[in-house]
Amino acid sequence: MSSSIPSVFSIIAKGGEFSVASLAALLQLSEETIKQQIGQLISNQCTGLQLINGKVCMEKAIEVLSVEQILSSGPFKDPVEIEVFEQLTSSNQYLLDIDNYSKEAKLCAVEYQTAGRGRLGRHWVMPMAGHLSFSIAKVQPLDSEKMMFLSLAAGVCVIESLKMSGLNQLYLKWPNDLVIDLGDDLIKLGGVLVESRYLPNKQVKWVMGIGINIEETHSFATNIKQPVLGILQILSESPNKMSFSRNRFIAEFIKKWQAIESLLDEDPIQIINRWRQFDILNNREVNVFPAKEAPFQAVAKGIDDKGRLRIENQNVIEYLNSGEVKVRIKKA
Ligand code: BTN
Repeated sequence: MSSSIPSVFSIIAKGGEFSVASLAALLQLSEETIKQQIGQLISNQCTGLQLINGKVCMEKAIEVLSVEQILSSGPFKDPVEIEVFEQLTSSNQYLLDIDNYSKEAKLCAVEYQTAGRGRLGRHWVMPMAGHLSFSIAKVQPLDSEKMMFLSLAAGVCVIESLKMSGLNQLYLKWPNDLVIDLGDDLIKLGGVLVESRYLPNKQVKWVMGIGINIEETHSFATNIKQPVLGILQILSESPNKMSFSRNRFIAEFIKKWQAIESLLDEDPIQIINRWRQFDILNNREVNVFPAKEAPFQAVAKGIDDKGRLRIENQNVIEYLNSGEVKVRIKKA
């Protein structure tokens, strides 16, 4: 459902308590339909949703994702077609399924994904609203080497855009997990998933999807048990206590992306060097989990000019490709 169509969510997000009857009257829908929408919000674990004395409300008014709000944080160097949805299977899938790409990039942000996906075939689960799930896509000629730069550039744009929101204590864990360093543990706050389809005439439809935990602790990958934190928690503990806006962040990301994308062809080493500034694994002991072989220990030695992770294992340097392995820091 596109957010431009009024829904129970779009009404209650602004604050206030509503009975089923009052929502039915406001939205000119049957009470049965309103109850269905409320049931959907409950099963989507909508952030802040409350049922009090038969009335539905949010714990506090929330900023919904909005095309107008994103555009109002522009201007953007190049046009970008933006859409916002309350629910999709996956914002990556939505953009992969579209055929009519012109030269323009398309961006789609969504409050809830029913089949969000993460790297290495994992599910990606985030409660509805209050978190950030969006994807940006384009069709252009791009060889496979550049796909790695694209993926690293996405991580750079995420972290540099978060800096604009006052978050200076975040890092990237190769290839592009967004993490905070708590000494002997890294806590994941989000990640990037780049997917592509090869089209005729050397054209590639690439999609990069970004998921960031904003509101509060939850486990976003159903099959891994790692503690997670939200951006708001980190901001509340930092001295400048800046407010965070999802729409403003998306706009900032678009600006960063439009400023970096020409480097894919012109000077990809600049992308690599920017990524290196945020490398949390450099010189740390890591456990490496190859897809088909036994795990082993090594020391991370930064990334090479192709974006591969360099690891030192028994005085031998090896190079890891991102599609193949998981890397975790070794806990003390
Ligand atoms: C990871 O495994 O760390 C990457 C997670 C990427 C999740 C985002 S949420 C928006 C986009 N749509 C998806 O289905 N996945 C990405």
